[in-house]
Amino acid sequence: MCGIVGYTGDELAKDILINGLKRLEYRGYDSAGVALEDATGGVTRIDVIRRVGKVAGLESELAGVDAAATCGIGHTRWATHGRPSMANAHPHTSCDGRIAIVHNGIIENFAELREELAQRGHTFTSDTDTEVFAHLIEEAYYGCATGPVAGAAAGAAADMASGQATSAPAAPGCHDLMAAVREACTRVVGAYGLAAVCADEPGVIAVARKDSPIVIGRGARGSYVASDVIALIDATRDVVVLEDGQFARLAPEGITYTDAEGAPIEPTVTHIDWDIDMAEKGGYPDFMLKEICEQPRVVRDTLVGRMTGGELSIDELGLSLEELNLIDRVYVIACGTSYHAGLIAKNLIEMWARIPCEVEAASEFRYRNPIITPSTLVVAVSQSGETADTLAAIRDARIKGAKVFGITNVVGSPVARESDGVIYTKANKEIAVASTKSFIGQVVSLTLLALLLAQVKYRLTVGQVRMLFRELGDTAEQIQWILDTQKDAIHEAALACKDARSALFVGRGMGAAIANEGALKLKEISYLHAEAYAAGEMKHGPIALIDPGFPVIAIATKSPVYDKTVSNLKECEARGAKIVVVATEGDEDIAQIADHVIYIPPVRDTFSAITATVPLQLLAREVALMRGCDVDQPRNLAKSVTVE
Ligand code: M6R
Repeated sequence: MCGIVGYTGDELAKDILINGLKRLEYRGYDSAGVALEDATGGVTRIDVIRRVGKVAGLESELAGVDAAATCGIGHTRWATHGRPSMANAHPHTSCDGRIAIVHNGIIENFAELREELAQRGHTFTSDTDTEVFAHLIEEAYYGCATGPVAGAAAGAAADMASGQATSAPAAPGCHDLMAAVREACTRVVGAYGLAAVCADEPGVIAVARKDSPIVIGRGARGSYVASDVIALIDATRDVVVLEDGQFARLAPEGITYTDAEGAPIEPTVTHIDWDIDMAEKGGYPDFMLKEICEQPRVVRDTLVGRMTGGELSIDELGLSLEELNLIDRVYVIACGTSYHAGLIAKNLIEMWARIPCEVEAASEFRYRNPIITPSTLVVAVSQSGETADTLAAIRDARIKGAKVFGITNVVGSPVARESDGVIYTKANKEIAVASTKSFIGQVVSLTLLALLLAQVKYRLTVGQVRMLFRELGDTAEQIQWILDTQKDAIHEAALACKDARSALFVGRGMGAAIANEGALKLKEISYLHAEAYAAGEMKHGPIALIDPGFPVIAIATKSPVYDKTVSNLKECEARGAKIVVVATEGDEDIAQIADHVIYIPPVRDTFSAITATVPLQLLAREVALMRGCDVDQPRNLAKSVTVE
């Protein structure tokens, strides 16, 4: 979703901001802008330049601007309050334009604040919730509504004219940007990652955080802030992940950190050990393909160190073996692709550990009253570790007494920090909006958890766990085989689907869970409507959709329900469906009903999700490319969904 960058130092800020914003593009956005200090003529002003659309457009506009600024802030906006437009793009400014801010998150009480501020004479120029922040900071700084000179009187006049009680502005103003930001934050209910500059404090960026990520770093040529480490990793690998309620004041010569009262604090420095190459395309035409091709490595890396002395271990669980043994119910809570990883986990946990497991969309879980006891384990799955609904569900589950275990790809992310224990999926930075490699990392991690629960509950012997662990590791080579051999088959299948208006993904057992992920991938990147159904449910409704040429994409690998799935496909064939099947290598018979067959190597059914998902990812990508879609940045979607 939205992205923040900021820089103050001795280099040209505009280049650093544009490069940072480009790095944040993957998160999804619809407009972009920067605020740069402008000291021409000896008086500092703030110049704001904004554009709807891509950062490249903003870059072209800035190319024509002679901006010598060495301090500035930038933003990519994903619209929540107000449509994508120049006026709604960030940065937003105070009435007199001397303060500019960029903000990620949502201000829940913005309507009340806006009304109150308007009564005191503030003028609003956007539909955003963010803009109230700029005016609150302005009042705290100048003690007035309209600027350092004329404002106090105007504000007071507005109060008297309206005859309404309004909160008193912070007259006569603190004239300290950091203090003004702190004060503004006391008025705001909601989530924010915020960076502010002020023409009256050249070179200073004031930063605040609550429930929206902010990272800060000090490089050789200045101080940097961003909402994602990827935007400042060129400058430094040692970063401070700001905690909720912490503030930072960035200046060219250094950074100071304070708490909500303004008392100095010593921040924790985190070293980033992944390389920027991992976040670049590395010769692939798009991030999605690169990330799909990284999946064998993800399987291997996620398993490293898990079998020590012949025993499966997940030390980061934060739960003793005795506590694990007491678990009698598991909830997996997640959204989107992560939710689909949960559907696969349900099969494994119930089959191996015999513990009832429910999978719930975090957005639903948080507003239900689920049955939670101290022996309930809640497993929160989130690639980004930032998803607002998943975080809210974690908090709710913990208040109700559950142990919460996080599975995430991002070290130090809110999901990691707010869970009792965490497994990292070792996918490394995932850039394409459509999750691929992190899904595989999630399924492998959840499989480990299922094996551990089964071992602790004595449902599987140590020997059985060891054998299954070995087979789990074999899926890395099996994925590689698919990548190496099935390209043409996938291309042919994509040609058969690309002009359809809709497609059905079907399967049974594990295949039904995989079908969900196949359908989501196709719709999110190709904009082709797709739905997943348990194949046995087809005749209860969806089969009515099928007419000649309608694509049915089936997962029919060799499994205990293979014959049943084939019967369901025959019913589709009889109605003229165009059938694409993901089948097990060596299954020649399937070609009798399938128009296109994509093979995966023989694999135990319990691990088929890891391999059978790969051709579906590739199929979605091929179809999207054939339809002229941007596979890395699909419309309307954001990589991290940090709002409800
Ligand atoms: O970061 P998370 O795993 O919590 O994100 C959840 C979903 O927003 C995410 O999986 C989304 O569905 C992806 N675009 C799927 O490719």
